[in-house]
Amino acid sequence: MQEVRIGFIGCGGNANGHMRRLSDLEGVRIVGTCDVQEERAQNAAKSYNAQPYTNHNLMLERDDLDGIYLSLPVFAHGAPELDVIERRLPFLVEKPVAINMEIARQIEEAVAAAGIITCVGYQLRYLGSTQLARQVLGEKAVNMVVGKYWSGSGRGDPNAWLRQMSKSGGQLLEQATHTIDMMRYLVGEVEEVYALSANRVLKAIDCPDNNCATMKFADGAIGSLTTSWSYDPGDWSNANVLDILYEDQLIHWTVGGLDMREHGEVVAKTASGPGIDEVFVDAIRKGDASKILSPYSDAVKSLAISLAAIQSGETGAPVSVSSIG
Ligand SMILES: NC(=O)c1ccc[n+]([C@@H]2O[C@H](COP(=O)([O-])OP(=O)(O)OC[C@H]3O[C@@H](n4cnc5c(N)ncnc54)[C@H](O)[C@@H]3O)[C@@H](O)[C@H]2O)c1
Repeated sequence: MQEVRIGFIGCGGNANGHMRRLSDLEGVRIVGTCDVQEERAQNAAKSYNAQPYTNHNLMLERDDLDGIYLSLPVFAHGAPELDVIERRLPFLVEKPVAINMEIARQIEEAVAAAGIITCVGYQLRYLGSTQLARQVLGEKAVNMVVGKYWSGSGRGDPNAWLRQMSKSGGQLLEQATHTIDMMRYLVGEVEEVYALSANRVLKAIDCPDNNCATMKFADGAIGSLTTSWSYDPGDWSNANVLDILYEDQLIHWTVGGLDMREHGEVVAKTASGPGIDEVFVDAIRKGDASKILSPYSDAVKSLAISLAAIQSGETGAPVSVSSIG
């Protein structure tokens, strides 16, 4: 089996999860770990017998890299991706892909020109329950979808990049992008968003801590998404939940599984699916991106919906997703 050698740009909490999962895969080696915080780069390098860097361009000078992971704060996207693309290296980048459309479109164009494999960290698409929901829905028209992402992630250090609007885009962009992406993946493209946003509890941060967005889908379906950042940090059971109404039926989708009605009975279903790291490494090895469910250009569409919802919440007016850029 051809060995796949990986470099990391960003060695924080999320990157460490990818590193652990990669180290369990056969034929994968982490060769470079880069973080602007030297200690993080060094700790990761020690754990995986890799070379630490504090400048990604120095790491990219290596001639043994087969692929790159970028797991960065939202505001830090842009130059790192463009440097990776210049070296024509396949990359997996974490969601959301950028803080604004200008950066995302620049990267999207560079990816298209270079023709490289990309994968965005929307790992919920690969879940067995998601694929089951896709099979059940098939070509059927969805009437309405109701999504929620209620978490306590807004609680904690108000100075962390996550809790600053200019650095993370707030919950609708940084976190509920997963739910928005699942709405797109299971229901279809969103044309228009009308959102109300409030800061009710977390007065130390400049992000809304509760959001309520209504969506119009391209095929006429309608939907809503509620998000809270001020909820109980100990309860994740209301994070990434969708109720999808089609015909006279209901699919209740969660990260843990799927409930649906069969012959009048509510049936709980689960199924296994491949992990996103396995899919990405396999795509590099085979030079075949067909199993990647969220390439860069697709993920840009999820970004646009978050940005439309944020703008609507700020202006109080409905926003068409195509006007976002
Ligand atoms: N897919 C998921 O379910 C999931 C889960 C958690 C986080 N994430 C995403 O992962 C990304 C990182 O989140 P995190 O929680 O690990 O954040 P983090 O702050 O723990 O890690 C980010 C790291 O990037 C480093 N960094 C910043 N600029 C850099 C640069 N130019 N070069 C190299 N390193 C740089 C920081 O020093 C930090 O160590 C975010 O986009 C987040 O949304 C995704």
